[in-house]
Amino acid sequence: MSKKIIALAGDHGGYDLKTILKSYLEERGYEVLDLGCNGAESVDYPDFAQVMADAILEKKAARGVLVCGSGIGISIAANRYTHVRAALVHDRLTAELSRLHNDANVLVMGGRTIGPDVAKDCLKAFLNTEFEGGRHQRRIDKMS
Ligand code: RB5
Repeated sequence: MSKKIIALAGDHGGYDLKTILKSYLEERGYEVLDLGCNGAESVDYPDFAQVMADAILEKKAARGVLVCGSGIGISIAANRYTHVRAALVHDRLTAELSRLHNDANVLVMGGRTIGPDVAKDCLKAFLNTEFEGGRHQRRIDKMS
């Protein structure tokens, strides 16, 4: 699996932000696996958390990004899958910490709660920060 394949998914509340992030990634040479939704029509966020969980499990993408209106519902749903470590972030620091300390494999943001520039900043930090391991690995192992 290429480190460059990033899966994106979200509900209608995250659709506009997902579209912005898709362009951001493609402009930087990433291959995007867009798992929907595909418009503003109302859908249910657990369905998109599930397709993301499946894509990560099947190694169709190295990492994923989920978006719903607040980011809350879809992060709760995604974290029901034991192989998913989904981090709801609000700024560059929380995005960076999600990688350094939590080895997050899915970044979550709220399309109605974060602006596009901050969201891009979060995504950049998520993609470019490595897990620190050590004591943080022990803590992650306790959740597996
Ligand atoms: C959909 O209206 C909204 O509830 C959803 O996107 C999300 O914010 C739920 O947590």
